Amino acid sequence: MKILLTGASGLLGAAFAQAATRRGHNVIGMVGTFAGHIPGLAEKRSLDLTDETGATSAILEVFPDAIVNCAAVSEPARCEADPARAQALNVALPALLARLAHHLSARIIHLSSEQVFDGADTAPYAVKSTVNPINLYARQKVESERLVHAAAPGFAITLRIPLLTGNSLGGNRSLHERLFADWAAGRTPQVYTDEIRQPCTAANVADLMVELLERNDVRGVFHWAGAEALSRHELARRIRAHFKLNDTAAPLEPVSRAADPRAAAKRQASLALDLKPLAGTVKTPIETFDAQLDQLILPPACRAWYFSG
Ligand SMILES: NC(=O)c1ccc[n+]([C@@H]2O[C@H](COP(=O)([O-])OP(=O)(O)OC[C@H]3O[C@@H](n4cnc5c(N)ncnc54)[C@H](OP(=O)(O)O)[C@@H]3O)[C@@H](O)[C@H]2O)c1
Repeated sequence: MKILLTGASGLLGAAFAQAATRRGHNVIGMVGTFAGHIPGLAEKRSLDLTDETGATSAILEVFPDAIVNCAAVSEPARCEADPARAQALNVALPALLARLAHHLSARIIHLSSEQVFDGADTAPYAVKSTVNPINLYARQKVESERLVHAAAPGFAITLRIPLLTGNSLGGNRSLHERLFADWAAGRTPQVYTDEIRQPCTAANVADLMVELLERNDVRGVFHWAGAEALSRHELARRIRAHFKLNDTAAPLEPVSRAADPRAAAKRQASLALDLKPLAGTVKTPIETFDAQLDQLILPPACRAWYFSG
């Protein structure tokens, strides 16, 4: 399959490039500013995807069998800092890609987030649970889902995914990479004891995306995540223990949502996901957190700090 991948330099896009290539697919990857090598890509193109005309002609020129959209402003704080750019990438771009997918009769996978839910319920959210976005990023994800499925109802899959673990190309993007960056710089990361997340690795989501693209019977909105819903504090503690670090070398500051109600108003408390109907019907395994830890590598920029201790 010829697959056009946006966001090929991101945490998930880079994982998808490798997963799809392992399965024999031909992946043409689009990046924004990333200049390095991306393993798994047959071809890399640099393009500002907020330029609708440029993006349209580049995609029509590739004429893909499938489009995978991993480009985004993927952090809520960055969306708040530049709402117009975030709107262009998180809403207008997926809508454009869906229109092009429909035009090309190509499958499209769009990535959404657990954050479409408000996090007030402690029970896992099902696909049909009511969305209630509480920050700009989440509102944009809800809007993007609606536009993607309106434009390409016969071709679109949206995956709502959780906080991702794994190894990014720059070594600075994922959960453990950010903890290491703080520790290596002598900072103490604050970690919520009362925010629950259900992470899985980017590589695991990538395997699922390839599996879904290879099946012809899947359309619609789905949930995917790991096997365990844990507090951010517990996640950080287990990452630290996995790398055999102690509280002196790698301190953590446990914090509670009550300490900063204004911040908490835009952060979801509990985002566990019900994985039906994918759970049990796909070959991709649901990862335990231990299985995720086994895949993490020491971020290259933090090696000197790690081995000096
Ligand atoms: N990471 C998570 O924990 C998480 C959780 C839930 C959902 N998601 C969703 O999953 C998807 C992938 O997330 P991710 O974490 O892999 O994202 P990411 O690491 O932040 O990567 C974002 C990608 O978008 C590209 N991009 C940004 N602006 C661009 C522009 N103007 N033109 C072209 N490309 C541009 C970046 O390219 P350059 O770097 O080359 O500029 C990069 O490849 C997103 O939809 C995100 O919202 C992620």
